[in-house]
Amino acid sequence: MALDIVIMAAGKGTRMKSDRPKVLHRLAGRALLQHVLDTCTALSADRTLVITGYRADAVEQLLQGQPARCLRQEPQLGTGHAVQQALPHLDEDGTTLVLNGDVPLIRADTVRALVDACAGRQLALLTLRLDEPSGYGRVLREGDAVLGIVEHKDATPAQRQVREVYTGVMAAPTAQLKRWVAALRNDNAQREYYLTDIVAMAVADRVPVVAHVVADETEVLGINDAVQLADLERRVQRRQADALMRDGVRLADPERFDLRGELHCGRDVEIDVNCIFEGRVVLGDGVRIGANCVIRNTTIGAGAEILPFTHFTDATIGAGAQVGPFARLRPGADLGPEVHIGNFVEVKNSTLARGAKANHLAYLGDATVGERVNYGAGSITANYDGANKHRTVIGADVHVGSNCVLVAPVTVGDGATIGAGSTVGKPAPAGQLTVARARQVSISGWTRPVKKKP
Ligand code: UD1
Ligand code: CA
Repeated sequence: MALDIVIMAAGKGTRMKSDRPKVLHRLAGRALLQHVLDTCTALSADRTLVITGYRADAVEQLLQGQPARCLRQEPQLGTGHAVQQALPHLDEDGTTLVLNGDVPLIRADTVRALVDACAGRQLALLTLRLDEPSGYGRVLREGDAVLGIVEHKDATPAQRQVREVYTGVMAAPTAQLKRWVAALRNDNAQREYYLTDIVAMAVADRVPVVAHVVADETEVLGINDAVQLADLERRVQRRQADALMRDGVRLADPERFDLRGELHCGRDVEIDVNCIFEGRVVLGDGVRIGANCVIRNTTIGAGAEILPFTHFTDATIGAGAQVGPFARLRPGADLGPEVHIGNFVEVKNSTLARGAKANHLAYLGDATVGERVNYGAGSITANYDGANKHRTVIGADVHVGSNCVLVAPVTVGDGATIGAGSTVGKPAPAGQLTVARARQVSISGWTRPVKKKP
């Protein structure tokens, strides 16, 4: 039997008080809608239809290249009206699953169970018991039987006492859904077409209505404002942190840990507080990450130690390396094994071979650095001539003194020494001392100027 999915994402999200459409706000590094889409991928539906409206262009941009189709809802007259837009595209002989674009953590297993409960002939609703049900649609029952859903704004004081709420997720036999949704009216407090009104229609048609109460509320919490977004962020982070810790990763404090992507860890990895991981990060066995590091799309080899306050983007760090504190590795920084990068050192698009060191206040951009090089404090590669970037090639066992400028393109041969304070723009031969600075002079008998008397 066909399975079609309708994701409602046309609403403005007024309570977010933001110019960005609500479903594009980020949770654990991904747009809310992306979370829902990723769950849909696991369901292998025949069709995934996303209803867009408010800032549809921005939402559609996210969907580009994804196996989902957009349908515009203009104007937005409610959730029932949103589903109306999808009706012509739904397969009559199937089941339709309705999801909310602002309920990001729903799990594939949960919706699969709901689709099974629908069995192509019953209306299956996902519900939740809440101590604070305010704002949600309430599930009205007589005994066990579901009679309907009433929206908070339309509910009587007695109905508002009901703790069981509708989560915004339902599975329905498509043929009946088409009939019910086409017949919706908007005679209610918000003058909207409520999808939830189809429940009473199903009851009137003697179609069985089943309500599945979800156990873990985190799965179905919707996001309406910045407070709820932040609350859900902490819950996702805690989930991710727990999963990592169960795999043996030692987090100094799971409440002060943020993963906005994927983190793959070997054995005996230790992560201190307030670190942020983004994109895809791989940490080898025994890696230690100090406090307050931001690490994006980076691979770190076994036994490497990252000291506090470092910042990595698109970098590779070899086994046994030591980086930080206060270091910055930018895209294309490729550090070999046992490399040392110290405080206030920036590396971009550069390769450092085994055992090379740049310990203090330095810049290496577009450089190739040989084994065991010692790159002095305050030295920089001048890699940019104002129009183009050029490379600096430093051979093995080179010693670059403090405060040098290597004006690229330039090469320094194996075993060369560059005297402190040199500005080097021509090749420095292997094995020799190259010094390029004014000679030191001392003037005897020189006196300091003195202040004139008025
Ligand atoms: C809806 C349910 C409520 C449920 C709650 C769970 C209805 C009438 N009410 O209320 O019973 O407890 O979700 O979170 O369905 N949307 C559109 N087009 C529209 C209006 C909304 O696409 O015209 C989209 C929104 O972008 C959002 C979703 O539908 O993703 C839900 O809309 P929202 O306005 O947040 O509904 P709630 O009032 O939360
Ligand atoms: Ca909502």
